[in-house]
Amino acid sequence: MSYNYGQRVRVSVFGASHAPFVGVTVEGLPAGEPVDLEALRAFLRRRAPGQNAWSSARRESDEPELCGGLVDGVTDGTPLTVMIKNNDVRPADYAALRDVPRPGHADYPARVKYGAAAELDGGGAFSGRMTAPLCAAGGICLQLLARRGVRVTAHLLSVGSVSDAPFDPMGLDDVTVEALRHRELPVLSDESCAQMREEILSAAAEGDSVGGVVECLVEGLPLGLGGPLFEGLESRLAPALFAIPAVKGVSFGEGFGAAALRGSENNDPYVVRSGAVTTLTNHAGGVLGGLSTGLPLLLRAAFKPTPSIAKPQRSVRLSTLEETELRIAGRHDPCVAPRAVPVVEAVTALALLDAWPQPEVGAEPGLAALREKIDRTDAALAPLLAERMRLSDEIGALKREKDLPVRDKQREETLLRRVSVLAGEESGSVAAVYQAILAESRARQTRGEEETP
Ligand SMILES: Cc1cc2nc3c(=O)[nH]c(=O)nc-3n(C[C@H](O)[C@H](O)[C@H](O)COP(=O)(O)O)c2cc1C
Repeated sequence: MSYNYGQRVRVSVFGASHAPFVGVTVEGLPAGEPVDLEALRAFLRRRAPGQNAWSSARRESDEPELCGGLVDGVTDGTPLTVMIKNNDVRPADYAALRDVPRPGHADYPARVKYGAAAELDGGGAFSGRMTAPLCAAGGICLQLLARRGVRVTAHLLSVGSVSDAPFDPMGLDDVTVEALRHRELPVLSDESCAQMREEILSAAAEGDSVGGVVECLVEGLPLGLGGPLFEGLESRLAPALFAIPAVKGVSFGEGFGAAALRGSENNDPYVVRSGAVTTLTNHAGGVLGGLSTGLPLLLRAAFKPTPSIAKPQRSVRLSTLEETELRIAGRHDPCVAPRAVPVVEAVTALALLDAWPQPEVGAEPGLAALREKIDRTDAALAPLLAERMRLSDEIGALKREKDLPVRDKQREETLLRRVSVLAGEESGSVAAVYQAILAESRARQTRGEEETP
């Protein structure tokens, strides 16, 4: 069984639903990236079961245990492993299912393909439990992307026959994003929250389940991420999204709806705004030809109704090949889509960080690429400034030895003239920065004077 994804940022998932733990190893993370463990815990809690009436009653704290890859909370470029213990395992719930496969679940094809030796209790590697390590890896990628100016936000677009308002494909405001996190279900309106809750609970009361659609918007992507054919952003995101159990459809922008539109309706007209080329609309969902357009990336993932339902279903006793009636006990989500909202964010982040160019995006860099350039400039500048301060201290010591004054106005004026010439068009700003540098040098030399016995 293969549990791997990614080319640059590679994840390898391990464990199973009823094994002692599930986990993930992430390779290829750049060194020097701080990982906020508290934020990671909070992210994992958004997916964890047992928190409300509409999710499985399985109680898991989903506490991430990290080993390797971090030094003092900062990535060191080596593989990073996150382990998550399975605390609330009840194999008895699944004993009967070893012989009678659940319709709609992976039980039957997996049993035939992998044989009796495979650990398939609770769905084994095919369980929704495997989305905990996906969230651990993706939660870290989300933090790295946020540092590059990228925000990934998902919500429940629909549950059964109830719909939330769709995201504005041109972008979201902070208040909307914040409000999503504080509703019982991650939706845009209190009304759809109440209706979806009712839809899920009434299906559960009938021993049944419902499906749903998760919509995700990625803002702040630079233009040009991805590439043609198999390198395309859609080509990279789709396998990651389809890896989430129960995903049966993935679409970008107008998706299947585009097939019913005219070109004149679906094309996004180009315009110039604040001196830059942009589009008036975003039917493309931020991706054309597999390349990010610079507008928000909009994708949707359709989740089927949970296969494990309490209602009697037809199945077969494999040991005797008798047809039988199956009634599934145990703890199952009547709708997996709400808990899948952070999972969609996580795998989207994984795929995007994997597609993130090293070291920068093409000819028209967006905010993230520019910030990377600034970071690189600062990385070169800061050690030089530190060296300059050390040299200034040496000069101070020499001046004290030769009994020379700290301040040499003529020398300062010459220096400012020289850096102004070197700075070209930026002479004014650079001279201002140098005024501050000279003031700090003088202050250090004066302090040195006071400290000299
Ligand atoms: C977060 C999450 C939780 C899930 N919980 C359950 C569950 O409680 N019971 C169940 O039968 N399936 C659950 N599933 C779905 C099954 O794992 C999935 O339907 C099954 O592996 C078959 O794969 P397929 O639906 O992709 O074909 C869950 C999926 C996700 C993403």
